[in-house]
Amino acid sequence: MLAPMQGLTNRVLRHLFIEQVAPDLVFTEFVRVQTRSRKRVTRSDLDEVGSHEGTTPLVVQMIGHGAEPLCEAAQGLEMAGAQHLNLNLGCPYGRMTTGATGGELLRDPDKLIELLTSLRQVISGSFSVKCRSGYDDPQQIFQLLPRFEDCGLDYLVLHPRTVVQKYAGHADHRLTAEVVQRTALPVIANGDINNAAIGQRLLAETGVAGLMFGRGALADPWLFQRVRGELAGCVAVGKRRRELDGYIENLLNRYLVRFCGDRQALMKLKDLLNFIPDEELQRDLKKLKRATTVASFRALLDRFAT
Ligand SMILES: Cc1cc2nc3c(=O)[nH]c(=O)nc-3n(C[C@H](O)[C@H](O)[C@H](O)COP(=O)(O)O)c2cc1C
Repeated sequence: MLAPMQGLTNRVLRHLFIEQVAPDLVFTEFVRVQTRSRKRVTRSDLDEVGSHEGTTPLVVQMIGHGAEPLCEAAQGLEMAGAQHLNLNLGCPYGRMTTGATGGELLRDPDKLIELLTSLRQVISGSFSVKCRSGYDDPQQIFQLLPRFEDCGLDYLVLHPRTVVQKYAGHADHRLTAEVVQRTALPVIANGDINNAAIGQRLLAETGVAGLMFGRGALADPWLFQRVRGELAGCVAVGKRRRELDGYIENLLNRYLVRFCGDRQALMKLKDLLNFIPDEELQRDLKKLKRATTVASFRALLDRFAT
């Protein structure tokens, strides 16, 4: 699965991934559910759902709080065509002025379970959560598992870090393995799966039902094919440069069509370049990030592959 990543996994990026590396499933960026406005979801978020084409399932992720707003949003999203809904229980920055959202919902498990039960009653398609291992205690997940099952969730995506941990340390997939043992729910592993070897090991050793790639896929879209054994697990730097050159150029061309003006297209693309970690490419990536026109960006990109 391609992970939801706010500001990055927009419709254009998702479609590029679908065409080129065929994830089994893709997530939207989180859709913010309004508590105060009767219009629970913005028109542009509803359009995003309606514009999805093809056979790769799209999971629409909601972030928000309160049973009434979230249930109404879920119904609106289903009317717009969503067949798979997910609730964000992980975002460490998700608090809205009107209340706790995202990972903060783990602070009140009873209220959370009530919310999930209400949502399950109104959602007719699949319903899942994307969850951290706990708010501040990684063992919290084990108390939640039987309650998640009772709520009738279809599956659980687990990022085994706590909410307070944010992105520090590492995702502890020994915990993922234990979660798989202790629940009947299908578990999707997420967090720090940045290369094929890690992904293959998780599949072979933990019994997870699937993998979700976030930052690793931004840096290397072919990760999907590498994990499946369709492409080599790692590549030499020259080839890596050529692969990235094609990926960046393809995305630039698509962003120029989708976004309003060169500046916005370049900005979006530069956000993604921040997620390419290869040390030997940093000098050239920095130059690309400093380019102020599409023409200069393209000129630098021509040199990037050589
Ligand atoms: C820039 C950025 C935006 C993110 N936005 C979302 C989001 O909208 N919803 C969500 O559930 N997780 C979001 N995440 C978390 C990722 O989906 C994922 O759980 C996390 O990055 C760990 O996986 P990874 O190590 O494969 O990146 C975001 C992460 C990043 C880096």
